[in-house]
Order: sequence, then structure tokens, then C-alpha cells
Amino acid sequence: MTLGEGGTPLLPAPRLSARLDLDIWLKCEGANPTGSFKDRGMTVALSKALEEGRRAVVCASTGNTAASAAAYAARAGLPALVLQPAGAVALGKLAQARALGARVLEVRGSFEQALAAARQLTERGTHVLVNSLNPYRLEGQKTAAFEILEELGAPPAVLALPYGGGGNTRAYVMGFEEAGAGLPRVVAVESSLRAETAASAIRISAPVHAPEVEEALERTAGLIAKVSDEALLEAWRALAQRRGSSASRPRQPGGPGSRTHSSRRVRGWSASSPGTGSRTPRPWSASRHRR
Ligand SMILES: Cc1ncc(COP(=O)(O)O)c(C=O)c1O
Repeated sequence: MTLGEGGTPLLPAPRLSARLDLDIWLKCEGANPTGSFKDRGMTVALSKALEEGRRAVVCASTGNTAASAAAYAARAGLPALVLQPAGAVALGKLAQARALGARVLEVRGSFEQALAAARQLTERGTHVLVNSLNPYRLEGQKTAAFEILEELGAPPAVLALPYGGGGNTRAYVMGFEEAGAGLPRVVAVESSLRAETAASAIRISAPVHAPEVEEALERTAGLIAKVSDEALLEAWRALAQRRGSSASRPRQPGGPGSRTHSSRRVRGWSASSPGTGSRTPRPWSASRHRR
């Protein structure tokens, strides 16, 4: 079962590279069918749910998981239930999940409370959890690492990822380890505010994969970088305003997929741009988490 996920562009970012004196490439995961990397794992989770004869799926979500679960559940013909922290999800993502037929319920509380409620529901046996605790999600998400290797011919020196619950960080490390071509140094970037950050997709106070992320980072000689909301805002603007200059798609022979340029790229950075900003109308406004 597929909606055409994966195969997203890995684009050079020449203006950002010049500004930071690094060779930066961006894996544009917003090009996935519902606008984020979640689709890579959701296709596997829903395919397995169908194969196992399951009747419904549930997830807790800060927005992107909801949209992805709703789309793949619709494709599979299964009902999807989304539990979201009340008032804390970008409106565009919410509208997308609803339009795709998911039942969206607000939980008065944090993402962690919504996830606890979703896990309780799965214990009754009626619903399959399709958050990243579902192991099939990580199996799908690791394919982004395979694609980076295919395109660069070797791992980048550094891979920078946003760190919310940590499933994606684990999945990339799994992918590089399984490919056996060496590991990039992984920098998992989290908000120093976590529970309060304006970046709603990573507004998660207790990352559910934290122990595994720490172990994985140790294996890659990586680190967790804590950044302020001001720094996140500055990076978001720089990405939006300086990335537009590199529109070429990296697929043709001699382009980024070619090994001929790999020595330069091995020294480079690759950053995962995990979703599209277009469904977050006021991502950095004062509209913080309502309590
Ligand atoms: C756009 C975006 N970036 C980053 C993350 C964080 O991913 P993870 O929770 O796997 O660390 C999410 C997860 O919701 C997301 O939607």
C-alpha cells in the first residue's frame, strides 16, 4: 500500500552553506504525500495493520502524525482516531486530518497525556497504536537514510535532525547502521523549552525514545543540541528565505546521486527538513500552547 511516499529531494543549500561555511544539503521531507516524514513509516504501520486483520488505528499527535495516520487509514479503509493536546496543534494539520476522515478528539493536557490515553485504548485490543512506538513506523522511516546514502555515495559527516519524541532520530541511525556504510555524526536538535516551544511539532516534554536516542547518539559520536526558540525562529527564517535559490532536483547523473563528487560531500552536512511549513499559519506567533 502506498501513497507515493519517499524518494524526496536532497537539495544543496548554497546560500546557507556560504553563510555558515559548511557544505549543507537538505532532505526535503515536506515533499511526502501528507507533508512530512511520518508517511514513510505510516505506510508500513497501516500495511501491517491490514495484514494482521486489525480494525482501527489510534495515535496521539502534535499534527503531522495525525495527518499521515488519517491519509493511510483512509487508503486502507480503516477508521483512524486522533488524540491531540487541546489547542496545541497547527490548524492546517488538524483540518487535513479531519478532511481525510479521521475522528479527532482533544485531550485536555499535554502530548504525553494524549499518548497515555492512546496507549490505554490499544490495551483494550480494538485499536493499533500508530505512533512511533509502533516498530513498523521506524522500519519505514529508516529509508530516508538509505536515500541519503544512495544520493551522496557515502554518509555525510554530520546529520542534523529535529528531536521531538526521538523516533526519527532512532530510525535514521538504524538505517545508516543497517546499510553498513558508516555513520554520520548525528546532531539531535531539541528546543530548550520543550513543553513550551512555539515549534508545535516538537512540543513534547518527555521524549518516549530518550534512552534509545542517547545510546544511538553515543554510537555515532553525536550529541543533543538544545536551542532557544529565538534560534529556532532564526533558522526557520534562514531556511525559508535562503533555500529557494537551489531549485534543481538532485536526480540526474552527475548530480548529487553521483559518486564523483562524494569526497566533497563526505565532509558535508545533511539536515532533515522534516515537514512542510505551509500548514502552520502562524508558527512563531504568540499563539502558544493553551493550557
Ligand atoms: C515536522 C516534525 N519535525 C520533527 C518531529 C520530531 O520527530 P520525532 O518525534 O520522531 O523526534 C516531528 C514529529 O512530530 C515533526 O512532525
